[in-house]
Amino acid sequence: MSAVMQEAAPQGAAAMVEVEGLRKQFRVRGAGFGAPAKVVHAVSGVSFSLQAGQTLGIVGESGCGKSTLARLLMGLIPADDGRVSIAGANLSQDAASLKALRRRMQMVFQDSFASLNPRLTIEDAIMFGPRVHGVPPDEARARCHRLLERVGLDPARFAGRYPHEVSGGQRQRVNIARALALQPQVVLFDESVSALDKSVEIQVLNLLRDLKEEFGLTYLFISHDLNVVQYISDVVMVMYLGKVVEIGPAEVLYERPAHPYTRALLASMPSMDPQRRTLQAPISGDPPSPIDPPSGCRFRTRCPHAAPVCGEREPALVDAQSGGARAACHLLDTASGHPLAGKELS
Ligand SMILES: Nc1ncnc2c1ncn2[C@@H]1O[C@H](COP(=O)(O)OP(=O)(O)O)[C@@H](O)[C@H]1O
Ligand SMILES: [Mg+2]
Repeated sequence: MSAVMQEAAPQGAAAMVEVEGLRKQFRVRGAGFGAPAKVVHAVSGVSFSLQAGQTLGIVGESGCGKSTLARLLMGLIPADDGRVSIAGANLSQDAASLKALRRRMQMVFQDSFASLNPRLTIEDAIMFGPRVHGVPPDEARARCHRLLERVGLDPARFAGRYPHEVSGGQRQRVNIARALALQPQVVLFDESVSALDKSVEIQVLNLLRDLKEEFGLTYLFISHDLNVVQYISDVVMVMYLGKVVEIGPAEVLYERPAHPYTRALLASMPSMDPQRRTLQAPISGDPPSPIDPPSGCRFRTRCPHAAPVCGEREPALVDAQSGGARAACHLLDTASGHPLAGKELS
C-alpha cells in the first residue's frame, strides 16, 4: 500500500479497493495474410489501494487502458495476472464470487443508452438488479422510487417511461439510480459524465458528490477530463500506455506534478485562469501503439528529458520530492543513472 493513501485514511482502516499487479493483454490479428498475431499490452501491472469513502480519479489519454482496467475490476473480463479485492473479498471468476462482487461494486458507463434495455421501463430497469438478488417486488419497487426521487427524477413522472423517452442527462441519472439499487459500497464511473452538456455535467457531478456523502460510498472515477477529475477526486492516478506513472493526493498532484507526463497533461489542460493558459501544446501527437510499447519507460519517446537509462530500465514508482505523490520516473531516483536525476527541472 502506498504511503499516500495510508496517510489519507484513519489509522488502521483497511482498504476498500486493493489492486495488485493487474495485467491484461489482448491478442489481435496481424495486418496482412498469414501475419502473426500481435499482442496489445492494455494494462501492464497496475497496483493501487483506495480507502473507504475516498474518490480515486483515473486519468490518461485515450487508449491508455482505463476502460480495460475498469472491466478487470468489475470482473467483466478475466485478468492475465494480478489480484483485485473489494471490501476485503478477493475477486475471482466463478459465478458466485462475481454475483457477490456485484452487490459490493457497481459501474456506470459513458453511454447512457447502451447500458439500458430499450424494452424495459425505467422502473423495471432499476428493479432488475435487486430482484435478481432476491429482494421482494414491493421492497424493490419502493427502493427504486426512493432512488429516483433522490437522483432528481419524480417517480410519478419517470418510473413508467422508457429510456428513449428521457434526455441524456436524465438517462444517466437513471443509470446512477440503477447502480445504487443494489446498495453497493463502491461505484465505478467510466467517462460517465463525458457525453453530457457542460451545464448538465456539473449538476450530475454535484449529485454524485452528495450521493457519496449520503450513502458512504467509495468512488473510482475514470475520465480523460482533468478538470472534472480535479473537481471530484481525493486521490488521482495518471496512466500512460497501460501503466501507472503517478499517483497521489489530488491537490499535490495538480499543484506539483512530478512525472513529466503528468506535467505535460496538466500544462495542456484548459485552465480556468487565463494567466495560466499556455498557447503551446507541450505534448503533441499520439502515444505509441500498445502493440510493441517502448522499452524501459514507456513515456520516453515523448519525454523532453529522456536519457539512455530511460530505454534500458523501467522506472519504479517512488516517492516524489514534492511530497505525498508517487511517480515512476528515473529523474526522481538519484541512483538511477539519469544525468538530471534529483535536479530541479525548469
Ligand atoms: N477487446 C479488445 N481487443 C483488442 N484490443 C483491445 C480490446 N479492448 C481494448 N483494446 C485495446 O487496449 C488498449 C486500451 O484500451 P482502453 O482500455 O479502452 O483505453 P481507454 O479506456 O483508456 O481509452 C487500446 O489500445 C485498445 O485498442
Ligand atoms: Mg475508455
